[in-house]
Amino acid sequence: MFIVWFLLYVFDRLHMLKSLDVSFNSIMKIPDEIGSATALVKFDCSSNQLKELPSSLGRCLNLSDFKASNNCITSLPEDLADCSKMSKLDVEGNKLTVLSNNLIASWTMLTELIASKNLLNGMPETIGSLSRLIRLDLHQNRILSIPSSISGCCSLAEFYMGNNALSALPAELGKLSKLGTLDLHSNQLKEYCVEACQLRLSVLDLSNNSLSGLPPEIGKMTTLRKLLLTGNPLRTLRSSLVNGPTPALLKYLRSRLPENEDSEASTTKEDLITMATRLSVTSKELSLEGMNLSAIPSEIWEAGEITKLDLSRNSIQELPPELSSCASLQTLILSRNKIKDWPDAILTSLSSLSCLKLDNNPLRQVPSDGFKDIPMLQILDLSYNIASLPENPPFSSLPHLQELYLRRMQLREAPTDILRLQQLRILDLSQNSLQSIPEGFKNLTSLTELDLSDNNISALPPELGLLEPSLQALRLDGNPLRSIRRTILDRGTKAVLKYLKDKIPEN
Ligand SMILES: *[C@@H]1O[C@H](CO)[C@@H](O)[C@H](O)[C@H]1NC(C)=O
Ligand SMILES: *[C@@H]1O[C@H](CO)[C@@H](O)[C@H](O)[C@H]1NC(C)=O
Ligand SMILES: *[C@@H]1O[C@H](CO)[C@@H](O)[C@H](O)[C@H]1NC(C)=O
Ligand SMILES: *[C@@H]1O[C@H](CO)[C@@H](O)[C@H](O)[C@H]1NC(C)=O
Ligand SMILES: *[C@@H]1O[C@H](CO)[C@@H](O)[C@H](O)[C@H]1NC(C)=O
Repeated sequence: MFIVWFLLYVFDRLHMLKSLDVSFNSIMKIPDEIGSATALVKFDCSSNQLKELPSSLGRCLNLSDFKASNNCITSLPEDLADCSKMSKLDVEGNKLTVLSNNLIASWTMLTELIASKNLLNGMPETIGSLSRLIRLDLHQNRILSIPSSISGCCSLAEFYMGNNALSALPAELGKLSKLGTLDLHSNQLKEYCVEACQLRLSVLDLSNNSLSGLPPEIGKMTTLRKLLLTGNPLRTLRSSLVNGPTPALLKYLRSRLPENEDSEASTTKEDLITMATRLSVTSKELSLEGMNLSAIPSEIWEAGEITKLDLSRNSIQELPPELSSCASLQTLILSRNKIKDWPDAILTSLSSLSCLKLDNNPLRQVPSDGFKDIPMLQILDLSYNIASLPENPPFSSLPHLQELYLRRMQLREAPTDILRLQQLRILDLSQNSLQSIPEGFKNLTSLTELDLSDNNISALPPELGLLEPSLQALRLDGNPLRSIRRTILDRGTKAVLKYLKDKIPEN
């Protein structure tokens, strides 16, 4: 009772209250007055004896980090749909039977959703609205199937579905291009679908299912570091392979793949270009991806005010001057071409550009004033361009940058200018030669994904642990990290960040 009166007092006085932690008490009810704490951003009422949550919580419109794990809550009030800034929700260990379609569809900012150890018997169809979701943990429920709309969760990096009642997987799972960890242990899966072999996973846990065989295409999942298959009635695979090292198992599966059969489409390239151009008149989006074009056909400029142009996977060496007239262009994708020179002249007229992908080109150099004409840029991909960054790349002239991909660019150090990018959410520095990470990375407080895999990093600064509230996915595979034990690394991002944070010297 005292606690309740204390809460009433708190709500009455503190309209400005931004963060409230009442975890680990014996609270049986959150007073309706919580609705007056309209400035509330972070609320933790985990490990109490709550059976329900007040609808008035829906009036806390700024609530973005909500933790109510380990209570006895049977349902979430629909009014929570108004909390449209919700980015982290943890309701593990309750008695929830459903996550409503309406709630999930309203929480489009969610990056982390934890509803493990409940009584859920399904997943909401609307889950695909969560395009920013990075971690989804629904282990230990009674879920029978994953809806095909899961393909909308295009940021998903870690997906935990262990201890449910899945009997099959949707083919759409294969579209989750960022997925690194997929945990499906202790379900009733009879097969692992071929489509899901396209995933670039590090960890795939299929142990304790009903698999009697595996598609040989799993052998092509060369990024897999850990493939767990024990506890399956696998008839076609020797147990020494199943229980042995993952690379040997993958190699064996690859050896059973049939020879590549070619099945080329017979529509001509010209037909395809015409069709794409026609479509773009209404959609304002034009894709001429993978057509082996060395020049851009002139008819495409008739399409008018396009906002998105995808020319990836062609043989383009130089951009046509006509592109300068596309002032409305917001997205320009030039990945996998043969562009050697930075397209200065074109960028000058593309001041609304928010996404530029130039990865996988033989770019010789990015000039030191290369970004000056595109200050609105939010996404920049320069990966796989050998030796093309200037000494101090001027990333600070891109203050809106949210995603930066610098994979395999022979970087020996992280460019210091990056540390001024306050809005950066995704930073990919993998496959470089970095030996250390500056302590200043703690400045990147918006970061949700940091990929440092395949570098030469032997130690991480403890200050990286300070990014724990926002950082959801930290990839470290392929580094000679001596200071952190394998067992901690294998427990994933949260465990590593906590470990680092605990090492920060107090003063
Ligand atoms: C909610 O957050 C916004 C942006 O951070 C802020 O401007 C607004 O004052 C906050 N609302 C309340 C009631 O504090
Ligand atoms: C294996 O999965 C079944 C349900 O599919 C479950 O009842 C059982 O406890 C699991 N066993 C282990 C060792 O996890
Ligand atoms: C691509 O085009 C070039 C000529 O422009 C041609 O020699 C080559 O065979 C083409 N490749 C494919 C895969 O169509
Ligand atoms: C980090 O941010 C602080 C203040 O926000 C600033 O003084 C400092 O220069 C920044 N560090 C780096 C390395 O940019
Ligand atoms: C990796 O870093 C170590 C120092 O930590 C250095 O001696 C070694 O040459 C580096 N290896 C490569 C391949 O850069």
